[in-house]
Amino acid sequence: MTEPLVVAIDGPAGSGKSTVARAVAARLGLEVLDTGSMYRAVTSLAIRAGVDPHDTDKVTILAREADLGVGERVTAGGVDLTDTLRTDAVNDTVSVVASIPAVRRELVERQRAWVAEHGGGVVEGRDIGSVVFPRAAVKVYLTASHTERARRRGEEAPESVARRDLLDGGRTVSPLVVASDAHVLDTTDRAIDDVVEEILSWL
Ligand code: CDP
Repeated sequence: MTEPLVVAIDGPAGSGKSTVARAVAARLGLEVLDTGSMYRAVTSLAIRAGVDPHDTDKVTILAREADLGVGERVTAGGVDLTDTLRTDAVNDTVSVVASIPAVRRELVERQRAWVAEHGGGVVEGRDIGSVVFPRAAVKVYLTASHTERARRRGEEAPESVARRDLLDGGRTVSPLVVASDAHVLDTTDRAIDDVVEEILSWL
């Protein structure tokens, strides 16, 4: 059996992952899986339940029991969490939740199941090329200048973005790294179509 086509798109906050992932997926007729939304959903559930994000056991149970639906809207057990995913409260704690090894194991398993069910996809995150799909057909690591990344983040304070970058890059489990066989692409002054064409040329 041939492996499903996976395009892995990793990079820090504001590097352009979501926009690029959507455009590449449209060209290839694939769906997008935004893995960040899964870490954000578990964080949002912890906040709703009043669970301390540092309480690894409780957060892990929440992640395991969460009946997550990821797509245009993100739901848990039928409750729509979409509007809570980019709030300050979630921005401030998502990197703590994402550093819990058992939470990552749980979500990585679901990400692999999603791809198997969908027959491939464009998957965006922090560890997709390095850990989740090391055999992806194409691995892209997006970057952009600090100023440009801050501009794209819009509502999130630059200090919050910087803090997430620091935690995501410094954690022991699946830190944000450039996979050895990833194409590094600086999107600072690039038009989206141009970036997409370049990625498609690597396929
Ligand atoms: O959109 P942005 O790049 O700002 O963030 P995101 O992709 O929504 O991810 C939010 C947070 O989830 C990140 O800061 C990481 O802490 C975590 N994350 C992760 O650890 N691994 C992934 N594959 C995706 C996100």
